[in-house]
Amino acid sequence: MVITIGAEKGGVSKTRLATHIAALAAFQGIDVILLDTDKQGSAMSWSRIRNEEGVSPSIPVLALPANPARELANLASKFSLVVVDIGAQSYRTLLECAQLSDLVLVPCGNDQQEMESTLSVFEALRGLDGRHQSGRIPAHVVLTRVSPKENAKATVELRDFLRGEGISVCQSHIAHREAWKATGKTGRALHELKGADRSPKAIREMQSLYDEIVQLANQE
Ligand SMILES: Nc1ncnc2c1ncn2[C@@H]1O[C@H](COP(=O)(O)OP(=O)(O)O)[C@@H](O)[C@H]1O
Ligand SMILES: [Mg+2]
Repeated sequence: MVITIGAEKGGVSKTRLATHIAALAAFQGIDVILLDTDKQGSAMSWSRIRNEEGVSPSIPVLALPANPARELANLASKFSLVVVDIGAQSYRTLLECAQLSDLVLVPCGNDQQEMESTLSVFEALRGLDGRHQSGRIPAHVVLTRVSPKENAKATVELRDFLRGEGISVCQSHIAHREAWKATGKTGRALHELKGADRSPKAIREMQSLYDEIVQLANQE
């Protein structure tokens, strides 16, 4: 199984989602690897800090392969799950990896430019439908960093707008919560944070998204 997390823009939560999907899968005993295609190596950095802090399970990361799509095919034959974290400057890599993925997740926040960029990503992905073995790139938007208020009008409107454009949007979303910051510097996932960093609401949102993703991946 291959899950690719990508977008045209940086700072939309690609790496946070990728590391969390990998961590939750590893927690379930799934044989998972992260493929970090970002020059900044943020997923790699998270995993390194995780190892230094002695957090288990350890999550293997392969960083910056010369040919990500070819490496992806290779890893998919060795691991039960490959999670691909696409870099902000790696649009071509996103399009190549999408063709080989069982699920493509495109994070998008409540921001005009992110929304426009998401529309253009889906247009590009649609152009590649014929290159996917199922005849359709299995891509879905994940709303990230949205208002923590329940049923916030702006979030409902964003979801409705994207769906109106024929884009599938995950029902679960990720709200803007401070706990996400702590996951980067501690090498932990939300559910592994301790003390004041810990946020039960953030944990619930990520778990609910993970469950939805697993369901979607098995449907595709
Ligand atoms: N749900 C969230 N709430 C608050 N901050 C977030 C959230 N998701 C991501 N961030 C912050 O946004 C920044 C970018 O996240 P990151 O996952 O590295 O984005 P990308 O990989 O798309 O560039 C990080 O500083 C991260 O802590
Ligand atoms: Mg990143």
